[in-house]
Amino acid sequence: MAPRKLAAGNWKMNGTLASLAEVDRLLADHPQPGCDLLICPPATLIHAMAAKGIATGGQDCHANASGAHTGDIAAAQLRDAGASHVILGHSERRTDHGETDDQVRAKAIAAHEAGLVAVICLGETEAQRDADQTLDVIAGQLAASVPDCATAANTVVAYEPVWAIGTGRTPTNDQIAEVHALMRDRLAARFADGADVSLLYGGSVKPGNAAEIFAIPHVDGALVGGASLKAGDFGPIVAALAASGG
Ligand code: 13P
Repeated sequence: MAPRKLAAGNWKMNGTLASLAEVDRLLADHPQPGCDLLICPPATLIHAMAAKGIATGGQDCHANASGAHTGDIAAAQLRDAGASHVILGHSERRTDHGETDDQVRAKAIAAHEAGLVAVICLGETEAQRDADQTLDVIAGQLAASVPDCATAANTVVAYEPVWAIGTGRTPTNDQIAEVHALMRDRLAARFADGADVSLLYGGSVKPGNAAEIFAIPHVDGALVGGASLKAGDFGPIVAALAASGG
């Protein structure tokens, strides 16, 4: 089995019911996308999104199955609303909410127990890249955020350099290749099917740079923020992934 190609949209805290028209357009333009498609909208839209027949994900879940955690969502509740995936450890959660690798790992275990695919995010800050710490940071986050129960079927790993998110800046192809090769090596060494885990790149992926990024070895897709909000932007990214070799 080769890693599955996945074009994933992270809508973050954007979108209302009216935004679902963009999904209608995306599905109309790409009835057979040629790769896996996933949209992770705000929790308020999960049920309606999933009803459209597109794979849908949450943007976070709690590590506990239920309880007194006002404002949080359990993995089983995401699943109940129609989600098949959940993004975990996004840098905005790590920064805004102080999430640690240990917490991300606990959430991933909860996601797996609820039958969700965990999309686990890793990424270095600009200061860490400038200090030549990128590979150590990514290896450390990967080791500590990905739980032992991970398989190619229940886990996707996304490399999202913090400084590339929403900035219009991206790493060089060589920099992306270096990190993805490291993630592939570490996963293959640790898990029986680690060679088959889909590895996404995220951070300022646009229609204009998608094909180039998808040509990089061990890039199996993208986790797209801003450009996933409009079918006219996300559609060409999906098409570029479907057309990419390997
Ligand atoms: P942008 O594509 O807007 O840079 O966001 C990337 C991201 O954070 C996806 O999770």
